[in-house]
Amino acid sequence: MSQLPEKPRFLKACAREPLDCTPVWFMRQAGRYMPEYMKIREKHNFLKMCCLPDIACEVTLQPLVHGVDAAILFSDILLPLLPMGIKLEFAKGEGPHILNPVREQADVDRLQLVPSAEGLPFVLEAIHLIRKELSGKTPLIGFAGAPFTLASYLIEGGASKSYIRTKCLMLERPDIWKALMEKLSDAVLELLSAQIRAGVDAVQLFDSWVGCLNPSDYAEFVEPYSRKIFSGLANEGVPLIHFGTGTAALLPLMRDAGGTVIGLDWRVNLGEAWRALGDGVAVQGNLDPVFLLASPPALKRGVERVLAQAAGRPGHVFNVGHGILPETPPDQVKRVVEWVHALSAKNSVLER
Ligand code: CP3
Repeated sequence: MSQLPEKPRFLKACAREPLDCTPVWFMRQAGRYMPEYMKIREKHNFLKMCCLPDIACEVTLQPLVHGVDAAILFSDILLPLLPMGIKLEFAKGEGPHILNPVREQADVDRLQLVPSAEGLPFVLEAIHLIRKELSGKTPLIGFAGAPFTLASYLIEGGASKSYIRTKCLMLERPDIWKALMEKLSDAVLELLSAQIRAGVDAVQLFDSWVGCLNPSDYAEFVEPYSRKIFSGLANEGVPLIHFGTGTAALLPLMRDAGGTVIGLDWRVNLGEAWRALGDGVAVQGNLDPVFLLASPPALKRGVERVLAQAAGRPGHVFNVGHGILPETPPDQVKRVVEWVHALSAKNSVLER
């Protein structure tokens, strides 16, 4: 449970409370676009950085120099697969690579459910260290990958464009699919509960690739498992952020699955998406991360547009619509933070 002295902007926005100005943080706000990150990255590989609490803590705090309203734990959605018995590598420039992918019932049976305190003690230790450093001033966001997105990596063995193996397994062997999704949703619920007990102030469920599905398959093969996670966390007293990309057609179903805040990518108009979702949820998003590589005037127009679509309604958390790109100049991140705070403080003059 959150133990912050005064409720910070980010938590107020998640609770749809009115506030002085719109809070802002960035998905992938810690990472390769920051020279401070690259300095540490030269000495350690990425997985090792996630497994060393001192380093994870230091890297989590790095983006606070930009003035963001929340920190997000430095880790990865694929890390919890390690104690399950999955062999994972991050090949340079190629992204994640799983050496023992899940394709059959026996592969699902072999996946182990180990409590986070045993399997991922360094993640919980990092949370303790970060909380001490933040000393109650800035909220800390924990996270996990959603069952569908994790299953897609497990089945494909890495990133994918068409998700052929994932969809074929789902359609041809719903028995294996459902057994896998049950195990993954149990693991994710346990991990997020452990992160909350360790002291994070909010959690985000990343269903990054779920937008590759049609609404009927989402409802049948994904929604029950994401719902199990959100209903298992409903009484924890922290905001629950539900994020995916390419989800325009899935948003009402994702809202029904759960989450007090729905994360939007940049392919939707934030105002229209929020209207479709209704008043019962807050929204997070949704600047195109490529705008951070455009000239300051073009970037500013992008920021103004997102704020205008939110129209000053309580319950907007400004963010990018997907992670910050490694090519992003850090100054541009700082600019966006300043503009979001300044423009939203008097955003009644913004055009819709
Ligand atoms: O947002 C943050 O700053 C917190 C840290 C964080 C990372 N990954 C660090 C990371 C978070 C929240 C994630 C989530 C994550 N990881 C997702 C969901 C969000 C999204 O982007 O859709 C996914 C799909 C992953 C899986 C993953 N991790 C991929 C596909 C890659 C390779 C692509 C890439 O950008 O290199 C990673 C590696 C990764 N995760 C890096 C970082 C900082 C880069 C590692 C490096 O230094 O080389």
